Amino acid sequence: MTDFESLYRSDPDPWSVGTAWYERRKRGVLMASLPHEGYGLALELGCGTGHATRLLAWRCETVCAVDVSLTAIAECERLLAGDGAANVHLAQLNLPHSWPRIANESANLVVVSELAYYFSNKNLQIFLSNCLQSLAIGGDWVMCHCKTEFHDTQQTTEQIHHAMENLAGIERIVTHDEACFRLDVWRKYEGIHG
Ligand SMILES: C[S@@+](CC[C@H](N)C(=O)[O-])C[C@H]1O[C@@H](n2cnc3c(N)ncnc32)[C@H](O)[C@@H]1O
Repeated sequence: MTDFESLYRSDPDPWSVGTAWYERRKRGVLMASLPHEGYGLALELGCGTGHATRLLAWRCETVCAVDVSLTAIAECERLLAGDGAANVHLAQLNLPHSWPRIANESANLVVVSELAYYFSNKNLQIFLSNCLQSLAIGGDWVMCHCKTEFHDTQQTTEQIHHAMENLAGIERIVTHDEACFRLDVWRKYEGIHG
């Protein structure tokens, strides 16, 4: 299993998320794929150093962003402070067994970018079920993953996509599928209770 904290300590931006064209372009596609101009509460899982978090902060009333790495969270905090964003709650959590506490609220938007392939089969099922549970009726759920297979990933993007297809109560409303990455937006049906 990858030690993400050590990774961030040895390199503050291990995937060049802040600089690489792939990452910047993918974030642009992700933000442009969100059907609504604005959302209430967004849950960003595996937020890393916060490059997507700051964009979400402009589009959402509140963002709850979590990552397993404290170093990544500290960098995210620094980035957001530079923007003067006061609507983001950050937490260090090891998903999926720990889960963000969003009181009695449900999220209107769940964002999962380049995270789910790190989970075992069992943890992926728990993770997806927790995401579904946290999503409000009518809420949108973005899944975005690159197609390159790395030594430390446990799922392919195709396997994640198939696991999503098996979930009840959501429909796919956006798909962006290209050589480098796949992005889907799913919406929770009316009448389905998490
Ligand atoms: C490849 S980076 C993606 C960062 C960001 N979401 C993006 O798309 O640019 C994966 C992130 O997921 C975090 N992560 C990995 N496993 C995690 C877990 N079990 N719980 C919470 N965060 C995790 C890592 O620390 C890292 O910041």
